[in-house]
Amino acid sequence: MVIYFTGTGNSRWAAQYLAEELGQEALDCFEAVRGGRRDTYQSQEPWIFVCPTYAWRIPRVFEEFLLASRFQGNRKAYFLLTCGGSIGDAPTHLEKLCRKLGLEYMGTADLVMPENYVAMFQVPEPEEAEKIRCQALSVLGKQKEAIAAGQRLRPAQPGLKGRLQTWVVNPLFYLLCVRAKPFLATEDCVGCGVCVQKCPMNNVRLKNGRPVWGDSCTHCMACISYCPVEAVEYGAASRGKPRYRCPEYRAKG
Ligand SMILES: Cc1cc2nc3c(=O)[nH]c(=O)nc-3n(C[C@H](O)[C@H](O)[C@H](O)COP(=O)(O)O)c2cc1C
Repeated sequence: MVIYFTGTGNSRWAAQYLAEELGQEALDCFEAVRGGRRDTYQSQEPWIFVCPTYAWRIPRVFEEFLLASRFQGNRKAYFLLTCGGSIGDAPTHLEKLCRKLGLEYMGTADLVMPENYVAMFQVPEPEEAEKIRCQALSVLGKQKEAIAAGQRLRPAQPGLKGRLQTWVVNPLFYLLCVRAKPFLATEDCVGCGVCVQKCPMNNVRLKNGRPVWGDSCTHCMACISYCPVEAVEYGAASRGKPRYRCPEYRAKG
């Protein structure tokens, strides 16, 4: 079974591709995460966990979801991390996580997809994003073959920089950068509530028809990226930038 977490759709796209190609189910953990549910999952196939990379690890909220859930049936687990460029030493972190989950670690694949972190970086225009997804598709095809063959996935060695990113920068990132306070709705806001519906943390609500953000944000970029009128900004950092969101994966033919 393929279980995924996504903010802006890249990881859903990769999960849908894998599920389609491997003849498995792709399950979005959105409702479970949003509702704080503790569910039990069953699969006779190896587990394939797909998610974005946040500061060179899996998102903390996805790690918490995995630790809170129960996985019955097959004991093997693969991870696929979509990223804008690098996953650092996330594989070592995931190997340790697998031990806590009581699953056999089968390795981590990294997949470069369009950058979505509009609060921090430039994100690609649609045409450029499409090109990146096209390149990703051939990489994903090879990763799928390896998983189908039951092989272990071995990503490149992270080096000192990658280890520092995962083990030192990641905790600092959560401490210093991950906050909702700079989010705001401009006067273009039409009060449609899409930002409320898209938040996996249930951290956005409408007050007098306008969104307000609470304290439990994971910086997934869903609220800002899915706003149909681009009325959500992250302070001045996102102003004038395009928004990125990935369409659903559709098999050709
Ligand atoms: C909070 C945050 C942190 C990120 N950190 C990294 C990172 O450490 N390395 C990287 O290559 N990409 C990073 N990215 C980019 C995303 O991992 C990448 O665009 C991912 O495919 C988005 O997946 P999604 O659309 O499923 O949410 C980050 C994005 C966000 C929002």
